Amino acid sequence: MAYSDNDRFPRFGKAARVVHFTHLISFFVLFFTGMSLYFNFLSPLNLLFGGASSAKLIHRIAACIFFFGPILGICLNPKGFFLVIREITHWRKEDFQFIVTFLHKFFGQPHEVAPQGYLNGGQKLNVYLLGFGFLGLSITGFVLWFPQYVPISFALWCYPLHSLLAPCLTAAVLGHGYLGSFHPGSGASWEAIWGGTLSRAFAEHHHARWAQEVDSQLGRTRR
Ligand code: HEM
Repeated sequence: MAYSDNDRFPRFGKAARVVHFTHLISFFVLFFTGMSLYFNFLSPLNLLFGGASSAKLIHRIAACIFFFGPILGICLNPKGFFLVIREITHWRKEDFQFIVTFLHKFFGQPHEVAPQGYLNGGQKLNVYLLGFGFLGLSITGFVLWFPQYVPISFALWCYPLHSLLAPCLTAAVLGHGYLGSFHPGSGASWEAIWGGTLSRAFAEHHHARWAQEVDSQLGRTRR
């Protein structure tokens, strides 16, 4: 098959995209209900959720979607999950080079990106950040919900940890959202999570090694 500038690169399947948006929505529901529970001055927010006790109930329902959504996603697409695990456990020289050039990119300056794989160095770091934040908030959150099943000393640690991890994960999610959607030149990566595919120009610039692999798998050759 001939290579074309209009080629698309399949990136995320339907299940991954649905899980991503469900996860995002449940995160913000958790954020707003959590904030209204934590800060007295934000308690009027509870009215939006039908009062303090409904806010607590909504926090727990959103928590189940937040926690079990990704697990369902893994069951629907185990291959995609193991691809991500393989990527984040294999670091190449180019990944570290990407992180060094990241600052140039962040401030919109010209930069040369070393050829990256399916996930670039920054995305690998992001998976660790969001992954640990997700696990930390989920574990401490379920302990807050069912403290009777764990040693009391552990449960007591989980209260401040849950409140501390909430702003940390929120900062990481906002950074991820900005870099993936609003940062100049990121629009194309938004296409991948919305529509499932990446343009050739973006794939070759941000993931040159992966783009080459996909081209050879799909039998697309330059003439
Ligand atoms: C699986 C995930 C989660 C579970 C199971 C969970 C569970 C809980 C529970 C049971 C409470 C106590 C509510 C009450 O007073 O009755 C709570 C409080 C809270 N949650 Fe979550 N939560 C989760 C995720 C999150 C996330 C993602 C955020 C924010 C981004 C968050 C922020 C908060 C905050 C700020 C509080 C108030 C803490 C306090 O009053 O000291 N939670 N959570």
